[in-house]
Amino acid sequence: MAEEREKRAADYDRASLDRRQFVKVGTTSLGVAGLGACVFGFRYLSPNVLYEPPPIVSVGRPERYAVGSVTLDARFGIFVARVQEGFYALSAVCTHLGCLSNWKADTGEIVCPCHGSTFRRDGTVTSGPAPEPLPWLKVWISDDGNLMVDRSATLPAHSEYVQA
Ligand code: FES
Repeated sequence: MAEEREKRAADYDRASLDRRQFVKVGTTSLGVAGLGACVFGFRYLSPNVLYEPPPIVSVGRPERYAVGSVTLDARFGIFVARVQEGFYALSAVCTHLGCLSNWKADTGEIVCPCHGSTFRRDGTVTSGPAPEPLPWLKVWISDDGNLMVDRSATLPAHSEYVQA
């Protein structure tokens, strides 16, 4: 009789341990699922926008650009060029598939590293596959004497040179 009682007590302990484990695993699973739902809920409710820098950028003092230079400013994806007539700026984003092109001083041309398009210093295409020239961008000197470029405002090529 006592032996049967001990056996029942052991069975009861084992069953209640299983129940405790079941509750623990269930609670943990619910916690993980709840956390996941919170993360996805937050991502769903937060606005789906890109925070891009403003289109108008300062590229520094005009004196830092020598006459005859073409300078890539990779931060903004633009070239700042200075010629005898003044300053102009070009988008450095290749018109083929949007790679950032580079100025090659040794050959005096702008080269796209992705598919090999080349451009003159004024953005004219000299070899494809780029379908369009690099666009000219609006340039001016700010009140505090910095060279400013509006990356959202394009101009016809050779239409404007800014004097420092
Ligand atoms: S992206 Fe420049 S040549 Fe293709």
